[in-house]
Amino acid sequence: SAAEKGGYDYFMLKEIAEQPKAVADTLLGRIDPSGSLTLDEVRISPSELREIDKVVIVACGTAFHAGMIAKYAIEHWTRIPCEVELASEFRYRDPILDGRSLVIAISQSGETMDTLMALRHAREQGSKVLAICNTNGSTIPRESDAVLYTHAGPEVAVASTKAFLTQLVACYLVALYLGQVRGTKWGDEIQAVIKDLSRISEEVERVLETMEPVRALARTLADKDTVLFLGRHVGYPVALEGALKLKELAYMHAEGFAAGELKHGPIALIEEDVPVVVVVPSPRGRSVLHDKIVSNIQEIRARGARTIVIAEEGDEAVVPYADHLIRIPATPTLLQPLVATVPLQVFACELATARGNEVDQPRNLAKSVTVE
Ligand code: AGP
Repeated sequence: SAAEKGGYDYFMLKEIAEQPKAVADTLLGRIDPSGSLTLDEVRISPSELREIDKVVIVACGTAFHAGMIAKYAIEHWTRIPCEVELASEFRYRDPILDGRSLVIAISQSGETMDTLMALRHAREQGSKVLAICNTNGSTIPRESDAVLYTHAGPEVAVASTKAFLTQLVACYLVALYLGQVRGTKWGDEIQAVIKDLSRISEEVERVLETMEPVRALARTLADKDTVLFLGRHVGYPVALEGALKLKELAYMHAEGFAAGELKHGPIALIEEDVPVVVVVPSPRGRSVLHDKIVSNIQEIRARGARTIVIAEEGDEAVVPYADHLIRIPATPTLLQPLVATVPLQVFACELATARGNEVDQPRNLAKSVTVE
């Protein structure tokens, strides 16, 4: 009913709008005033966590994209090797796991069969399993050694939005907590990031306030056949997520690529007026990547692409090459997906509407996939 949708036309719009609160709620009570993390609910002891020599993340779909981003954070902040794998592929390839592996299963519903089977397989090998889940008491957390709940509230729209942002928050918390427990050389950076994370929901709110031009742009692209997405570092999984949203909702051909792979093949797809969304890393910090992406944008534009550039406020280098420019607030590199994903959700939702599609119930899809 309209009341359930809180005045919005679709659950998806409501859930996109709820993201600042979902993010804040997922952080609530987990960062103490001194700036250290207390994840008491993660019932795997600090001494056990210090013994971990490998992290393996398993998930499907959007949750898998959260896992891809988690890998960058975990390896950087903890120096523990981290693999991330589609749950449906994982157990069929005889993965190498033992009692020192920490397996993280990410699932909004907690009922995804592929993810459940992957975690069962991991536990059979003696690994500890930590679930990141949005649904209290669902099967995946019940069968895990520990759970860190995301507090997104119920997500009704088939296309995942607020659950994704809270999965990212939970992944950052786990990565930072592992760093804290194991005392890495990134102590100062970890402290600074915890501070930024505790303020990030306001940045998500600011992004939401500037989405009208994104919607207007989406409406002009309703008759396109293909949209491509490029990103690098944590922007690469964001590109994949942008493409997945567009497939699910707009039923358009959409593909995400790592920008560094362009010249290894995908650049052949660039032709006159094809829309290409580019997620640009911050020019601060890892500025090498920023410069490389700027030359990618130049390359594709020279071949006729219509460039839709998502770049940090104050990044002037992209301006000459952006046919459309979407600004996002400056964040630490690893946290950028929390703000960069939001315009892609809005974009896909508006394109779906413009194409006359059913936003909350896309064809052929179910909210949780409880069969293999
Ligand atoms: C995302 O928009 C999806 N509909 C889908 O990819 C989903 O993320 C995936 O099926 C995993 O679901 P889960 O988080 O409930 O395990």
